[in-house]
Amino acid sequence: MNNGNVDSKTGQVTIRAMAESDLSTIVTMEREIFSDPWPRSAFLDCVTANGWGGLVAETESEIIGYACYLIVDVESHLTNIAVAPEHRRKSVAQQLLDRILSIADGSGCEFILLEVRPSNSEALAFYRKHGFRVLYQRPNYYRRPVEDAVVMVKYFERNEPAT
Ligand SMILES: CC(C)(COP(=O)(O)OP(=O)(O)OC[C@H]1O[C@@H](n2cnc3c(N)ncnc32)[C@H](O)[C@@H]1OP(=O)(O)O)[C@@H](O)C(=O)NCCC(=O)NCCS
Repeated sequence: MNNGNVDSKTGQVTIRAMAESDLSTIVTMEREIFSDPWPRSAFLDCVTANGWGGLVAETESEIIGYACYLIVDVESHLTNIAVAPEHRRKSVAQQLLDRILSIADGSGCEFILLEVRPSNSEALAFYRKHGFRVLYQRPNYYRRPVEDAVVMVKYFERNEPAT
């Protein structure tokens, strides 16, 4: 999914569609941030493959964050999100997530899923703040180091199942 028309400014940070020319910067950031980083080919899918999408957050001078997603029929997945360490706690990830929620909701998705390491307390706090709840724990999902995944879901409002 290419969101070439996605481009808006929120304060000093612009959220726009990921482009192939961004990938060398993103791959460098990914290697610095994650112990089991995505390869360039995975990000390339985000700018070329059907159903996949990517966004970047940038200031006037540099890319400071990125996020990727997948939309399959009524399901959406937040597949990656990261912000450069020196730009964290300034709502950059929130702006990326808000845009993905809006794209997925606007595409008719009923819910959005994600996986997160149970040891990743920052990301868990971020997702909880934004209304994701734990569905279940998937054993031995991650590599380097091996760790379970916490699978979380957020329903778009009109689709929240009755409890
Ligand atoms: C998780 C991550 C993307 C959050 O990015 P961010 O831009 O700092 O997040 P925001 O500023 O939008 O945070 C919004 C809220 O999330 C929660 N949060 C984010 N980081 C937190 C932390 N270190 N400790 C506690 N809560 C945190 C808070 O509720 C925060 O609101 P507040 O600042 O008003 O308290 C960032 O920490 C990151 O890149 N981590 C490494 C990559 C990663 O783990 N990605 C997720 C993989 S599943």
